[in-house]
Amino acid sequence: MSAADSSASPSRLVIRQPDDWHVHLRDGAMLADVLPYTIRQFARAIVMPNLSPPAATSGEVAEYRARIMACLPKGSTFTPLMTLYLTDATSPDDLAAGFALGVVTAAKLYPAHATTNSAHGVTAIRGIYPVLERMQEVGMPLLVHGEVTGGDIDIFDREAVFIERVLVPTLRDFPALKLVFEHITTVEAAAFVEAAGENVAATITPHHLQINRNAIFAGGIRPHAYCLPIAKREVHRLALRRAATSGSAKFFLGTDTAPHEVKTKESACGCAGIFNAPHALEAYAMVFEEEGALGRLEGFASEHGPRFYGLPLNESQVVLERQECLVPERIAAGGGEIVPWMAGEVIRWRFAGVQPLG
Ligand code: DOR
Ligand code: ZN
Repeated sequence: MSAADSSASPSRLVIRQPDDWHVHLRDGAMLADVLPYTIRQFARAIVMPNLSPPAATSGEVAEYRARIMACLPKGSTFTPLMTLYLTDATSPDDLAAGFALGVVTAAKLYPAHATTNSAHGVTAIRGIYPVLERMQEVGMPLLVHGEVTGGDIDIFDREAVFIERVLVPTLRDFPALKLVFEHITTVEAAAFVEAAGENVAATITPHHLQINRNAIFAGGIRPHAYCLPIAKREVHRLALRRAATSGSAKFFLGTDTAPHEVKTKESACGCAGIFNAPHALEAYAMVFEEEGALGRLEGFASEHGPRFYGLPLNESQVVLERQECLVPERIAAGGGEIVPWMAGEVIRWRFAGVQPLG
């Protein structure tokens, strides 16, 4: 944060340009319409591979990357960092070749049936041990959707049980594997990551810092507050706020922005996912300010992620100005409409743009 902004409630916030370490950019017409929101604020993004069908080979990842690049406006310097969707059939050789070529930055573990488009996910972690072995050897990050799926486990317990049943044994067997526990939602996950080695980190979304599970049922069922992992009790939200604002390099920004058309959210079986890309940085800034930790936003948003991934820091800055802004009720995209996160609410910051590092 710039020196002039060191007061408790600055009117302007200037930080190194952040990256988003977890986004769903989708494909086709939806990709073209949601990409501008991410590239407006972020210099790079880790792009999730849960398309239908998923991007599950290096070739498919390269093709998806080309479709994203084709949607970028001329002169854009945005860099999509691609991920490969692990299945029971993932080839260690194909994965390692994609990583060596720079086409694939990381691999994403979706336990089968854990979330949107995860039907092709991994059915048992032991089945992909040869893949994890190779990833550990070449230093390729494993990005984890950390939820068990069995119907006997309460939906609010799925993350904590995943730690015991999957994460602990996996890291025991691959102690040097670089691993990002994505979109953590519990006190258990924050504590696990904090206590783990340097090779383990976590992303935290704005919405999990802002809401607890009451928000999903406030006065009726609220499909636009529904995502996976689902928001938990208040004690968990507070633990996430402590972790994000602690200054620990193990925690960094990952929005998990996940657009779905309004008709698929407001339905008898509504999709999981929150579209926060339009005001992601403003949402994080509000949280950090509420915690009296605006001075730590830059580390969380712009430094910890690149350091974990072994990438250079961005040579640009973003400017936020203190100004009340109304979040629109709907945004046109993909031939339909999406309800953005905090629709109809007033936020306290305005994103004023990107400038070269001063
Ligand atoms: O809420 C979510 N939406 N969680 C996920 O893990 C996937 C995402 C999506 O792709 O819609
Ligand atoms: Zn996600």
